[in-house]
Amino acid sequence: MKFLSALALVAPVQAGLRFPCSTLTIQRLDPVVQPGMAPSAHVHHIVGGNAFNATMTGDVGARATCTTCQMSEDFSNYWTAHLYFKHPTNGSYHRVPVLPVQPLLGGSQGAQGGLTVYYTQFDLSRDNLAQQKITAFPPGFRMTVGAPTAESRSHIGLNYQCLTGQNRGALLANFPTAPCSGGIFTAHHFPPCWDGKNLDSADHQSHMYNTVNSDGFINAPACPSSHPVRVPQVTFEQTWDTTKFNSMWPSGTPNPFVWSFEGNGYGTHADYMFGWKGDALQRAMDKSECFYDGCGSIQKQSMTVANQCKIPTTIDEETDGWLSALPGMEMKM
Ligand SMILES: *[C@@H]1O[C@H](CO)[C@@H](O)[C@H](O)[C@H]1NC(C)=O
Ligand SMILES: *[C@@H]1O[C@H](CO)[C@@H](O)[C@H](O)[C@H]1NC(C)=O
Repeated sequence: MKFLSALALVAPVQAGLRFPCSTLTIQRLDPVVQPGMAPSAHVHHIVGGNAFNATMTGDVGARATCTTCQMSEDFSNYWTAHLYFKHPTNGSYHRVPVLPVQPLLGGSQGAQGGLTVYYTQFDLSRDNLAQQKITAFPPGFRMTVGAPTAESRSHIGLNYQCLTGQNRGALLANFPTAPCSGGIFTAHHFPPCWDGKNLDSADHQSHMYNTVNSDGFINAPACPSSHPVRVPQVTFEQTWDTTKFNSMWPSGTPNPFVWSFEGNGYGTHADYMFGWKGDALQRAMDKSECFYDGCGSIQKQSMTVANQCKIPTTIDEETDGWLSALPGMEMKM
């Protein structure tokens, strides 16, 4: 049996794209929220095309020459904060390794770390193309979801799951409160409605509007007149391999994992920089056969090739190993 996940229980899917992207780089860069800043405030885990840099703008798809994503015409960049373990008694931090999201069709397909990206037209089992037109993002488009400063759940589409074997467990708004034998799974769903005019906005969110009102992969309710353009529903999923830290988490004590900005679970956020080549994403959204295995003219590459795409580390600092402070953060005594 090829589909091992809980999603195996739904009808055959043909409603969008789902594909792995390997890790491109882990460093303090953030061309959306802190363009030009090198280093940016906190460490990010970044996947996608090699045009990624501190000041990137314009038509990324025309400039990049390789991508860590399986869909080889996708030079977009996708990133989130990085998860760290904060030792409960001595206060040292350690980066949590990233695992490819399992199970993808045929396992992780050779992805290294990274995350899984979805572009859905409707939901996981239907495309409904006859009823709603999905408009792909234009070159230069970017957006964020969530906020490092959030003190409560800022968006219904930001969630955690505590992995145990093949079981992903319930959707949680905050970090799991006890060790997860299979790691911590995070999902970031982006808003589905665009104002149709602005490639970005001052807060990187106001040009978008969220009409999704429940978690999981549901079709977004209709867009408002202020943000009338229905775009693909973009989601990232990531698996953080927290398992080697579980023995250092004393029973009954609070969650020891923090985001790279010393943040709690509600501060989870994600950034998207559109970079599909030409009209490739629009072509994918206009088809009904696109899912898992790509679709017709939408090109794929083997993950062995994707894994060779790299960018240099330009921020010269240690982000891995045991650290006395998170990179960019004051040491807490
Ligand atoms: C980022 O890439 C752009 C476009 O290739 C280039 O003009 C710019 O100098 C680069 N910026 C940095 C900080 O490397
Ligand atoms: C904290 O504990 C870890 C795991 O035992 C250890 O590797 C690290 O060096 C310790 N940090 C300090 C400051 O002692």
